[in-house]
Amino acid sequence: MWRNGSAIQDFRSALREKFDADVFLFSSGRESLLALVQSLNIGQGDEVIVQAYTCVVVPNAIAVTGATPVFVDIDKDTLSLDPQEVRTAITPKTKAIICQHTFGIPAPLEELRAICDEHRIPLIEDCAHIIADDAGPVNIGMTGDFVLLSFGRDKAISGVTGGAIISHRTDVSNRVQKLEDGTFHFSFFTILRLLLYPLLYAISKPFYGLWIGKAFLKLCSLLTLLPSILTAEEKSGHQSPTLHKLPNACAALALSQFTRLREINDHRRMLTRFYLEQCATHGWPVLHGIRSDLPLQKFPMFVAGAEKIRQSLKRKNIHLRDGWTGCVICPESVDPSSLGYRDGDDPRAEEACEQILSLPTHPGMTLQDAENLVRALRVESQQ
Ligand SMILES: Cc1ncc(COP(=O)(O)O)c(C=O)c1O
Repeated sequence: MWRNGSAIQDFRSALREKFDADVFLFSSGRESLLALVQSLNIGQGDEVIVQAYTCVVVPNAIAVTGATPVFVDIDKDTLSLDPQEVRTAITPKTKAIICQHTFGIPAPLEELRAICDEHRIPLIEDCAHIIADDAGPVNIGMTGDFVLLSFGRDKAISGVTGGAIISHRTDVSNRVQKLEDGTFHFSFFTILRLLLYPLLYAISKPFYGLWIGKAFLKLCSLLTLLPSILTAEEKSGHQSPTLHKLPNACAALALSQFTRLREINDHRRMLTRFYLEQCATHGWPVLHGIRSDLPLQKFPMFVAGAEKIRQSLKRKNIHLRDGWTGCVICPESVDPSSLGYRDGDDPRAEEACEQILSLPTHPGMTLQDAENLVRALRVESQQ
């Protein structure tokens, strides 16, 4: 039942009920996006607007079709597309806009919807970092023509891997369906590695500060037991065009988290509120897009010397490096020019990735952990 089983259909039904739309499942968010871009007949000579300050796999999924990802600057208060900048970037070649709810902070959906309607192009909501629940935010995942979901290991919910396209357009749904029907299975070894991942990390976590924890992970990595999040090709702007099925085992894991979505989101809301209170108490500036009712995937702050603070905390076994620093197309090891980004194109995104320091809100992070983290941050800020 690792490859096939009832979990796939159960998960699809649960998502269909939530979004009241067609649901297509793939083995990752990047493959889901590629399937959507292909289904929209976007290719050579076309442009798709994405924000600077994104994960490399998003522009990769556009570039692999032959289309050009056009990077647009962000609003630093939402870390999402700036609608004014979008207006100036639109050309007759623009075939879609992807708006990313970065770390769960809502993108300016109303403005972007209006721009898309004016230009008769689809709006794709990238909900990799947030899946709204009964407590909101209400318009997230409900405004775009399409919604992209990821069930990767650090996403809103995790199946270790996985992704979905939610489609409100039946004309396009038929084409995505055909692509989903033609997907390939992962090998059993690949699924084994995916299933071992949470186990191996759980074993190593208590020892991570000691050499033994790091050595254990290194050994797992040498034995190729740890699935990598990004391949070397992906970091240099290339994505494989092959699409894979969401393994039933990963669908089961993602479904089990999806059925607990409210509980997981409430935990994230509790930590979001805690960090907000701490920012108010200590006079740390807050991004205006952050509200206390948001189930943030992480809590971003802008601080001077963010990288120095991260390095200093690392020496205390507090690991805040999350791949979303130091580069507008993340992670830092990506060469942005391989995707056509030139230094200085999007200055606010460039500032943001240098100044950002993000605090964890994931289900494994307790309030006690958050208190300890804030205490350590206070020490850093006084130095
Ligand atoms: C904003 C965003 N969208 C989409 C994706 C793609 O998700 P996946 O890792 O499942 O391919 C990512 C992955 O990091 C992401 O951060």
